Parts: sequence; C-alpha cells; structure tokens
Amino acid sequence: MKNFIIESYENSKEEDRLTTNNARRIEFITTTRIFDELFENKMKVLDCAAGTGVYAFYLANKGHEVTATDITPRHIEIIEQKLKNKKYYMNTSILDATDMKIYEDESFDIVLNMGPLYHLITEDLRQKCISESLRVLKKGGLLVTSYIPRYYVFQHIAMSDRRYVDMKLAKQLIDTGVLKHDDENCFWTDTYYSSMDEMEELYIRNGLKIIEHFAQDGMSPLLRERIDALSAAQFEVWCNYHYSICREKSVLGASNHVIIVGKK
Ligand SMILES: C[S@@+](CC[C@H](N)C(=O)[O-])C[C@H]1O[C@@H](n2cnc3c(N)ncnc32)[C@H](O)[C@@H]1O
Repeated sequence: MKNFIIESYENSKEEDRLTTNNARRIEFITTTRIFDELFENKMKVLDCAAGTGVYAFYLANKGHEVTATDITPRHIEIIEQKLKNKKYYMNTSILDATDMKIYEDESFDIVLNMGPLYHLITEDLRQKCISESLRVLKKGGLLVTSYIPRYYVFQHIAMSDRRYVDMKLAKQLIDTGVLKHDDENCFWTDTYYSSMDEMEELYIRNGLKIIEHFAQDGMSPLLRERIDALSAAQFEVWCNYHYSICREKSVLGASNHVIIVGKK
C-alpha cells in the first residue's frame, strides 16, 4: 500500500530544514542546549525518526552510542553516505516507529521520537508508537517526543500561503487536529496536530514522569524574514531570549514545534 508520508519526505529536502536560515536554526540551537542539560555522558540513543541525521550526528559527535532509524529510505541513505566520513560507527535501519520488533525490550537509555507522532492520524497508531518507544527504553530512560501545536499551525500555514486562509480548514484543525493527504486543502501530508494538555495526558497515561516540556522554535519560523535580518549578535540575543521563555505554558501553544520529555 502506498505510504503518503514517505512519498512526501522522498520529495522534499529534509536535510535543509534546520540549516538554511536562522529562523529554522533556532529549533536545533534550543533543542541541543536542552539535550546537553539532560543527557548524561555516553548514552545508548535510538533516534527512531532521524530524518537525515541532524540530531543523531550531533549526539554521536558528543560520544553517545547512536542508532538512527527512519521510515523514509532516502533519509537513511543520506545518513549512511555521511557516515563514510566519520570515524565512529552508527547502526542504521529503515524502520516504522510503530513496529520496532528488531530491537529487544529495554535496549536504549534514550529514545528520540521526533517525527512519527505528528504523522500518525489515529489514536491507535499513536499509542502503538509510544508503546514501542517505551518497550525498547530502559527503566529510568528518557522518551523525547516532538509535536506540532494544534492552535498554532493554522497561523503558520495561512501566513505562508494565502490559498489556505480558509475557515473550513481552520475549523478542521481546531476540532480534530487531523489533516489527511487527500483533503481538499491538504498543505502537507497525513498529519496530526496536538496540544500541551493532550501530550501531558498521553505521557502520564503511559506511566511517564514529565521532566521537560519546551518550545523548540516558538514563532520564529512565522517571523522568518525579520529573524533572518538580525545580525549574528542580535540573533544570539534572540536565541537566549527564546531559551529563557521556552518552558512557559503560553509559549508552548504558540510554537512551531514542541518537545516533551518523560522518564520511564
Ligand atoms: C520533520 S522530520 C524530523 C527529523 C528529525 N527527527 C528532526 O527532528 O529534525 C520527520 C521525520 O519523521 C519520519 N517519520 C514519519 N513517520 C514515521 C514513522 N512512522 N516511523 C519512523 N519515521 C517516521 C520522516 O520520514 C521524517 O524523517
């Protein structure tokens, strides 16, 4: 059966997402700053939606033992290509995060689930993905999940492309959080937009102790032209400002991407 999520990623350039301008780079800067605070030395990390490896390589360069998997074959090919220039080894695999049976129970200290959840449009599949992530995670390990806030996304889409300034689309996103690849006004692919409360409930229901919940990038992608016009020194101020407010509840709901971290 055709997978529309894979098709979407095979036809986009994920490798450019966090590197091409400062409005995007802030997500990586904030996230790695918090990873550095949270992760102890030499952890066994599974990055189960590694994309083209931006976080997997960051962590491997710091000495963590990283396994990078993803559902999109092109992404794993790019990671394998990059690995040829590295002195360390990284396990890689094409894998759907709802079925990680190739890994044994309690194999990893950290599971990064930064991608699958916002592409799973049924509750059943989202639970499967969380259950699998928790199964392969050691007791005391950390589950890191990223999501896209439901009440923010319409602003981003409508301001990026006026064709989507449409009340039916806005209402659908607010009411259901679901966008399907064959929806009349589909601006991406099968996606699910969540909320702070819903993510905290999901974590608590799964027995996780929430230890972090932060906005990765805030409204920076929405303010792209202005952020990219800042000088290097001004951008540093902007990043430090964002970091200082990134755990505020009001900011979590108005961010392009958010991360929740829980301890098993
Ligand atoms: C926007 S990218 C994020 C990549 C990287 N984790 C990051 O945060 O920059 C989302 C990734 O999730 C992957 N993905 C989507 N659904 C998945 C699934 N069910 N299992 C594994 N990977 C999935 C996509 O192929 C893509 O590489």
